Amino acid sequence: MIGRLNHVAIATRDLRKASAIYRDTLGAEVSEPVQLPEHGVITVFVELPNTKIELLEPLGENSPIAKFLEKNPGGGMHHLCYEVDDIIAARDRLKEKGATVIGSGEPRIGAHGKPVLFLHPKDFGGTLVELEQA
Ligand code: CO
Repeated sequence: MIGRLNHVAIATRDLRKASAIYRDTLGAEVSEPVQLPEHGVITVFVELPNTKIELLEPLGENSPIAKFLEKNPGGGMHHLCYEVDDIIAARDRLKEKGATVIGSGEPRIGAHGKPVLFLHPKDFGGTLVELEQA
């Protein structure tokens, strides 16, 4: 059911520093920061030949990554995003298999303008999973 790894997301308190590590130390192509107030994050995308890295810094009071950064003050891997062809079919299958879809269960428009859902880490080896309809 899942297809390509769309991105790996890394939460950080210091987007400028994280961007510099990817650009200057690792020599990757790094985008300008984009504020996504409706998602409570500022994002930078690192383009790799086979996938992307999404660097996330909290934006605003109720950022969904604030709690993660409380538990992981130095930052860390926040989620993996897999592509699916049909997000509703994927959701229904996952629910049937006993996975927990976070929130209302209705897809939201994600950072790339495409429908996304998040799956609870408890069902996936402790890793938060994002599904994106590619
Ligand atoms: Co993501």
